[in-house]
Formats: sequence, structure tokens, C-alpha cells
Amino acid sequence: MSSSSILLRDYAQWELNAFLWISLITITLLLLKKVVKLFTLWFQAKSIPGPPCSSFYGHTYLLSRRSLTEVLSQSHDKYGSIVKLWLGPTKLLVSIKEPVLIKEMLLKAEDKLPLTGRAFSLAFGQSSLFASSFDKVQKRRESLALELNGRLLERENVIPTKVVDSVMDRINGIMGKGSSDCKVVSQHMAFTMLGATIFGDAFLAWSKATVYEELLMKIAKDACFWASYSVTPFWKRGFWRYQHLCTRLRCLTQDIVQQCCKNCKLFCHLDQSTHNETSNTGMETALGGPSHSDVPVPDNLFSEKLNGNLNAREEPCGNLMGVMFHGYLTTAGLIGNILARLATHQEIQDKIYEEIIMVRKGSVKQEQQSVDKMLLLLATVYESARLLPAGPLLQRCSLKHDLTLKNGVTIPTGAMLVVPVQLVQMDKCSWGSDSCQFNPYRFLSANGKQSDKACNASLTGAVKEDVDPRETSSVLKDPNDNAAFLPFGSGSRACVGQKFVIHGVATLFASLLERYEIRLRAGSEENPKATMNNCVYQLLPSPEIVFVRRNT
Ligand code: HEM
Repeated sequence: MSSSSILLRDYAQWELNAFLWISLITITLLLLKKVVKLFTLWFQAKSIPGPPCSSFYGHTYLLSRRSLTEVLSQSHDKYGSIVKLWLGPTKLLVSIKEPVLIKEMLLKAEDKLPLTGRAFSLAFGQSSLFASSFDKVQKRRESLALELNGRLLERENVIPTKVVDSVMDRINGIMGKGSSDCKVVSQHMAFTMLGATIFGDAFLAWSKATVYEELLMKIAKDACFWASYSVTPFWKRGFWRYQHLCTRLRCLTQDIVQQCCKNCKLFCHLDQSTHNETSNTGMETALGGPSHSDVPVPDNLFSEKLNGNLNAREEPCGNLMGVMFHGYLTTAGLIGNILARLATHQEIQDKIYEEIIMVRKGSVKQEQQSVDKMLLLLATVYESARLLPAGPLLQRCSLKHDLTLKNGVTIPTGAMLVVPVQLVQMDKCSWGSDSCQFNPYRFLSANGKQSDKACNASLTGAVKEDVDPRETSSVLKDPNDNAAFLPFGSGSRACVGQKFVIHGVATLFASLLERYEIRLRAGSEENPKATMNNCVYQLLPSPEIVFVRRNT
């Protein structure tokens, strides 16, 4: 062999060795980094109290036998307001139950767990509203909040009369059939209210609305399941069936958007002034839906700077579908709970009716409901939201840095932070001895101020006699003043639709109760349980209700 080929061979061998060494060192460093991270996590977690854990798999065995809420309830009773659980060697879950610490955590921890973002992106494509990282959602959150809250300021009624009439028509139809499932009525009310808000009046006459609603429900059944795979299960047939449903939903969303545009153009030609009621362009841009340059945007609907364009990775209609999905399921849950509570608390329903009639008598615009003055009705909405939150947990994580709370506890980066919202909202320390009972009066205070008497009464559950909403002096408390009121979350990732939903749902109920009395059908379940169903809590078995027309 010539000396040059020997030299070449040695050189190649040297190169290969160098490459292998560099690879080995890099992999070792990466592994070391992981090990250091793991030890830091274990070390930092040591100072957080929690049940002892002997298994390598953490507390998963415990959780396989009981629900997470049950385990957390017992752990909080035993270890205090902050407890940790291990869901695996690297998965630390920290639960917080003390309202002031919860507020602080929800403000400081800006990111959500990747699972939520994955569920939304699998179903609706990349979007800028339900992503895990706060940086990705911040802008879109702001524009949606501005649009929704702007509507509250602009219009006396968030829900236009046409929408209320459409819901009432359907209820008339239901009434003809006798009793009805609470769940079915609430889903329809929520769907109509939200669809008409997001897509405009064209939604009310849209022939494919029923299919759209069914698709949303079908997707809700499987969304969490498919998102729970850390590697997308392309090899599963069921997954492709699920993707097919999502694609159909996308096509239908595009269809209704087009219908709205047609409608919008028609109205623009007919009468510019009707634009306020019929155009959905402001909401669409707030949600990053398709923007149609040929559709004139009225100045008063949305300013140019809010016409947030989609970034390159965002799916057109992704946010529209995401908001329809989240808003529909959660709003239906809330409406269903209000219907069931009113049916089982006839005396409160009667008082709300009196309140509606009283406000109507004093109102100049007879066709509109002034829900701001219907204090007991609003208090009923708050109380129903308190007793049946959308889900058992609020969740957060801090992706970039450790989180130190005022009480000195440091929560390591990447830990799952949860708030057992159901426990917090039924805690006797925050809500009094009647914390598990339906008592809307707890949100009313007497004599124009939150008198000590009313507050104490609320804590002992004896407020009913003290506060009568028909007294002009009684005042509605801001539910968010109580740090333990969390049906819409709190802090940097709180629900953007809170004010809109409360107002909208109250408006629908004002019209409903004015015309009908809600009764429980004889023999129907009086104490249904909050059960997780289709991604949200629902009362199951769903009560059967009857609408009885009032003689006005
Ligand atoms: C009764 C109805 C509703 C309930 C109970 C509800 C509840 C919630 C909750 C608990 C969160 C998480 C908050 C947190 O982690 O702190 C949330 C997030 C959100 N909600 Fe709602 N929601 C409702 C309706 C709506 C509606 C109608 C809209 C929009 C029109 C909406 C828009 C949003 C958005 C965009 C987020 C995501 C915020 C983020 O991740 O940054 N919600 N909602």
C-alpha cells in the first residue's frame, strides 16, 4: 500500500474518531443537563409538602383508583394550601387551594400546559388564541377582549332581539312537545347566542347550523383523547376519522363566513345603517378569521390596527372554530345549570320574574331587556357559574422560569400548576356554611354597600332574609372581589368572554322568564351530579324541564 493511501486511511480514521468523540461528549452533556435538571426539580420540589411517594411512577397508582379532585381534596386537608403530586419521575403537579395564592399564581404563571394547546391545534390547526405560550396569544386575546367588551359598551343589549326571538321560537316548538331535556335546550340557546355573535345574523338562517352543532359535539367527545398522545397517532384509523370531522367543521366554518360576507354586501348596498347589526367583520378580524378586502368595514366596528392578520403558521378559521368550540360547550353548561337551578328553586324564579316585570315597567325601550338592573337574575348567573365551573381544574405552567410565591414557596420551571376550582368554589372558609347550596343572595349586599351584616350573613348562609333585590338599595357585588370566584379563571390567561357571557346569558333568561315559567317535570332527577362530559362539567342525568307559558 502506498504511503499516501495509508495517510488517507489514517486521516479518515482520525476524522471518524473525532466525530465519534464529539458526538459522545455532546450526548453526555445533554444527558448530564437532563440529569441536573431532574435533580434540581427533585430538590426544589422537596420543600413543597405532599403525600409520600415510594414508587418510581409517583402517585399514578393512587390516581388510578380515585379521581384527581378527590386526591387533592384529601391532600389539601392534610398538607395545607399548596401540595405536590408526582405523575411520573419528571412530571410534578403542584396544586394551590388558598385564594390569595391562587390569584398570585394565575397572574404570574402566564403559560398553559401544552396539552390544551395540542387539543386545539389537532382539531382546528395552529391558532393564536388557545396556544400554550402567552407570547403567542397575548395580541389576539387583547383584540378579542376589545371587540367583545366594545359590544357591551356600544349596545344596550349584547344579544340582539332577533337572536332572542330565534331562541324563543325554538322553545315554543319544544313546548309543543311537552317536556324537554335541559341539556338539549341549553345547547341550543348557547349555540344560537354564540353563532349569531360571531357570524352575524346570517347564522340564524343558515341551513347547515344543525350539522355544525353536531360536529362540535362529536369533536368534543374525542378532543382530549387524541391530544393525550405525545406523538400524533397517524397509524390509528380512529384518528383519521376524527381528522375528517375536523375538516368538515372547517369547510362549514368557511361556508358560514362566506354567507356572512354575502349578507354583509347585500346590506351594505341596501342600507349602510343596518351594518351595525348585520356585519360580523369586526369579530372575524378579532378572531383572525378571513378578512375580505372587498367588504367595507364600518369605522365604528373595528379600528384598522385591530385587523390582526394571520401569521404564516396560523390556520384560517382556526380561532373562529376554537372560540365556537370553547364558548359553545362552556356556555351550554352554564345555561343548563341555570335552567336546572331555577326549576328546582321556584321561589327564586318567582322573585326574578317580579324583578324583570318591575324593570320592564320602568324601561323606555320596551323591546329591550335592561339586565343591568336585574340584580337577582345576575346574581343567579354568578351563583350557577360558581356551583358548576366548566372543569375541575384551572391549569397553568411557567415554561421559562421558576415561580416564587409571596409565602416563599418556589415552584420549579415546567411544573404543572393546578387550581382545584370546584374545591375552592365550595370551600366553607370562602363561601360560608351554605357553600354547597344554591343561594344567589350571597352576591347581593344590602343598603348600597357591602355591609358587615350582609357579609356575615353570607358566610353563615342566612342572607336570604336580609337582602331583597326589589329594594332599590340592594347592590350587586362584583363576584371577582372574592378571590375564590374562579369559574372564568383569573389573571393573565383569564377567560376573555366572561363579561359578554354573563350579560348575554342574563338577557336570554330575562326574555325566557318573562314569557315562561320553568318547571321540573314530575319524576325528573332533582339532584343531578356534576359529571365531566364532552370536555366540560354537566349535570347528569340531565333534568327534564317543562316551559309553562305565563298569563301576561
Ligand atoms: C359560560 C361560559 C364560559 C366559561 C365558564 C368560560 C371559562 C373559561 C375558563 C375557565 C378559561 C381558562 C381561564 C384560566 O385558565 O384562567 C377560559 C379561557 C378562555 N375563554 Fe372562556 N369561558 C366561557 C365562555 C367564553 C366565550 C363565550 C368566549 C369568547 C367569545 C371565551 C373565550 C375564552 C378564551 C379566548 C380563553 C383562552 C384564554 C387564554 O388561553 O389565554 N370564553 N374560559
